Amino acid sequence: MARITASVYTSHVPAIGAALDLGKAGEPYWQPVFKGYEPSKAWMRANTPDVIFLVYNDHATAFSLEMIPTFAIGCAAQFNPADEGWGPRPVPVVAGHPELAAHIAQSVIQDDFDLTIVNKMDVDHGLTVPLSLMFGQPEAWPCPVIPFAVNVVQYPAPSGRRCFALGRAIRKAVESFDAPLKVQIWGTGGMSHQLQGPRAGLINKAFDTAFLDRLIADPAGLSQMPHIDYVREAGSEGIELVMWLIARGAMNDKPPRVAHCFYHVPASNTAVGHLILENT
Ligand code: DHB
Ligand code: FE
Repeated sequence: MARITASVYTSHVPAIGAALDLGKAGEPYWQPVFKGYEPSKAWMRANTPDVIFLVYNDHATAFSLEMIPTFAIGCAAQFNPADEGWGPRPVPVVAGHPELAAHIAQSVIQDDFDLTIVNKMDVDHGLTVPLSLMFGQPEAWPCPVIPFAVNVVQYPAPSGRRCFALGRAIRKAVESFDAPLKVQIWGTGGMSHQLQGPRAGLINKAFDTAFLDRLIADPAGLSQMPHIDYVREAGSEGIELVMWLIARGAMNDKPPRVAHCFYHVPASNTAVGHLILENT
């Protein structure tokens, strides 16, 4: 049977992708950010999974205000990097895993979570920047990826509680797939940031570090935090953090091993947070 081996959590700042693509990763501003992901790349080389289930949000790229699914699972064989206004990022095409994606859709929908099935979709920085941070700049991504898009752009966003329960349903789905696959689940976006309005530029280090601590030690309690607390404490785009609870909910119930933890401010307009948790 397939199993979830580990979960990875990371911010998805678009300027990080641009820094890599334009050869600026060594500049003094970016150097500390990429240094924080050196242990992660070494860990990934030693722990490359068979499939990544990548929870992220689309930023009105594949979807628009015309149509916004709350939860959407990518079931296609491939996903092209999206053109977000300045051409697609020069990164590899993302290979999907249609068989596992279809199995997860079947299991999770029958477990009462209404997923939108997506058979064609371009993927934006929300998905490609985490891949770049964890894998660098390879010719091809080293394993298939199932994109799982969550609406945190147009209100109402799903609650942390529902995201955590959805993670549990995803774990059950993976564990009932009849092939010995090692699956990682990634939760991306965040940490605190607000891109617009009078509070633009908001960063809340105390909130972010407490969130990291609770995600490790008390995820069920953390999942009860109402959405208004995310917005008040972590800014309007800080709500992206609910996606981390999907990945955490998919982990088993024993305390995880913390393989890596990193926090850095600033990177563009957001605090960069990053965790790797292994199932024990
Ligand atoms: C920034 C952060 C995001 O999460 C995003 O989607 C777009 C921009 C930023 O920090 O600039
Ligand atoms: Fe974002």
